[in-house]
Amino acid sequence: MHRATILAAALVLGLAAAPALAYGPHDPNCVECHSIHAAKGKAILAVAPLTSEKNPATGSGAAGDVSLCLGCHNEDEGIMPIALMSTHPVGMKPNKVKVPADLLKKDGTLGCMSCHDPHPANPNYKYLQGNVAKGSDVGKFCSLCHPEQADKGAFATAPAKVPAKQ
Ligand code: HEC
Ligand code: HEC
Ligand code: HEC
Ligand code: HEC
Repeated sequence: MHRATILAAALVLGLAAAPALAYGPHDPNCVECHSIHAAKGKAILAVAPLTSEKNPATGSGAAGDVSLCLGCHNEDEGIMPIALMSTHPVGMKPNKVKVPADLLKKDGTLGCMSCHDPHPANPNYKYLQGNVAKGSDVGKFCSLCHPEQADKGAFATAPAKVPAKQ
């Protein structure tokens, strides 16, 4: 069966079981993303990483967390596809922009997880790393890394970040 169909079915079941508790569409039971005994990648991920798509920011195939997210978020699976050609730079070390250290990955690169924490515990809009008031304060989130471009009056305070990573 197509993964999107399986996930759609799982989502319906999941929502039916806990409608008010789910923060977002990612599997609250963890196992769509993590496979306990039949993992296909690091962090016991259940989904094979998609490495074939060229990343314009690095000139090579998608790697690290970028390839993990793309395992589901690609055109073939049809789950909110993300194309790297038309995406904010990812997978590389920041050149000019000063990124808060806790948002960079351990290897110093900016990944999908710099802006998103995909875990079911994250209550933020679109699983962002900061609270953006259901999407009305996205500029506040951008200003974490791009303070020079932000309207200081509109966003006097930085957004609360999700609980610190373990
Ligand atoms: C949407 C996919 C997704 C779901 C759902 C998900 N995880 Fe994760 N998880 C990831 C990714 C991606 C990583 C990080 C891999 C990396 O560091 O590059 C990760 C990392 C982790 C780690 C390593 C520590 C950390 O936070 O970086 C733990 C522990 C973990 N997940 C547990 C869970 C548990 C428990 C659940 C369910 C409550 C869950 N995950 C649900 C994708 C997911
Ligand atoms: C196992 C498959 C899977 C993986 C891996 C996965 N996602 Fe998702 N993601 C989904 C599904 C399914 C949806 C819901 C799609 C829909 O509603 O049409 C979703 C939705 C989202 C959304 C939208 C949330 C919302 O509230 O609208 C974001 C943001 C997202 N994913 C980010 C990520 C990031 C970042 C990663 C990697 C860390 C990731 N996803 C990995 C399956 C996955
Ligand atoms: C620089 C920050 C940033 C990075 C890096 C980033 N995202 Fe996002 N992403 C966002 C923001 C902000 C939104 C919400 C946009 C909106 O709805 O206004 C979003 C939305 C999404 C959505 C939901 C799209 C929809 O149609 O609602 C998905 C899925 C997603 N991101 C996946 C990813 C994946 C996969 C990666 C890595 C390849 C990634 N993101 C990297 C900031 C980022
Ligand atoms: C976690 C840090 C971070 C966040 C949050 C972030 N950015 Fe960026 N942004 C970067 C980095 C790093 C670069 C690449 C420049 C560099 O290498 O220093 C970049 C580059 C850009 C560029 C230039 C792209 C290009 O191809 O030249 C734009 C435009 C941009 N960001 C807009 C945004 C917007 C809009 C948001 C909010 C939705 C956002 N950024 C959120 C870190 C971030």
